[in-house]
Amino acid sequence: MFEKGEEGRLAPGPALGPEPEPEPGPEPGPSSGSGSVLGNGINPRTRAVKLRTRAVNLYYGDYHALRDITMDIHGCTITAIIGPSGCGKSSLLRLFNRMNDLIPGVRVEGQILLDDQPITGKPTDVTMLRRRVGMVFQRPNVFPMSIYDNVVIGPRRHGVKQRLALDAIAERSLRQVALWEELKDSLKKQAMGLSPGQQQRLCIARALAVKPEIILMDESCSALDPESTMKIEGLMLELTKEYTIIIVTHNMEQARRVSDMSAFMMIDEDKVGTLVEYAPTLELFANPRHQQTEDYITGRYG
Ligand SMILES: Nc1ncnc2c1ncn2[C@@H]1O[C@H](COP(=O)(O)OP(=O)(O)OP(=O)(O)O)[C@@H](O)[C@H]1O
Ligand SMILES: [Mg+2]
Repeated sequence: MFEKGEEGRLAPGPALGPEPEPEPGPEPGPSSGSGSVLGNGINPRTRAVKLRTRAVNLYYGDYHALRDITMDIHGCTITAIIGPSGCGKSSLLRLFNRMNDLIPGVRVEGQILLDDQPITGKPTDVTMLRRRVGMVFQRPNVFPMSIYDNVVIGPRRHGVKQRLALDAIAERSLRQVALWEELKDSLKKQAMGLSPGQQQRLCIARALAVKPEIILMDESCSALDPESTMKIEGLMLELTKEYTIIIVTHNMEQARRVSDMSAFMMIDEDKVGTLVEYAPTLELFANPRHQQTEDYITGRYG
């Protein structure tokens, strides 16, 4: 339904890096480093790397949840993290804005770099990090307040006080999620009264209101009807002109439809989550290099 080959997406945006980066993912294959151009016309690997993970291991207490995750996430692309339940997709996503810090007993080894600056370790300003890396959850978590207040809560927390400035942020953010026309006359109404699809778009608007650079979406369409899902997928494609988006999805068709890169995760023989294969989406789906990937994407897993 949503074509990725539209003009805007093909145009080299400001995020284009000077040189394509070599791919550090697991077992780079023949197509990995060469930067093959895909059917949708963009080669995600020509985009500057926004986020790097280097040999990242995650432990919840004694439980080893993620092993040696090394991947580069390219700016202004959509990356889909796929894999069976329990393989660590949400755990990985939460590392990118340090949401795992909230869990007692968590330990992280290895490095994660945002624009080449480490975001792991003590000196990180976590508030600033979460402003740069926003998150949208599986279920729309609107707050029990007005639509307007929901959207501007982040900027208010960051010190924006002027009504005019907040109004402008509310309008910009709601326009970005195509809710402005629908809701501009009911901004004072309770957000809880919106439909689930509208609520989820409101949550995306709330995330956008602080002008993040990366948006993490953990199964953000799984609780929605097909029409709302399509709207949000359309939004993702629109937003990726400016933002880097990382999604977790169990919906293979969604991964295919929207993402530029796909990361397939699985638990290994020691029950630890690993990155099995990471490649441009069309490549990964058309020509998976690992049997496990093929079994999973064709529905033969489990
Ligand atoms: N807060 C936590 N404390 C302890 N273990 C956890 C915690 N969160 C996740 N785990 C464990 O880490 C592993 C990976 O969980 P995670 O939620 O990241 O998987 P997932 O791939 O997102 O699964 P799903 O597809 O079901 O959402 C699981 O074995 C899970 O039980
Ligand atoms: Mg999960």
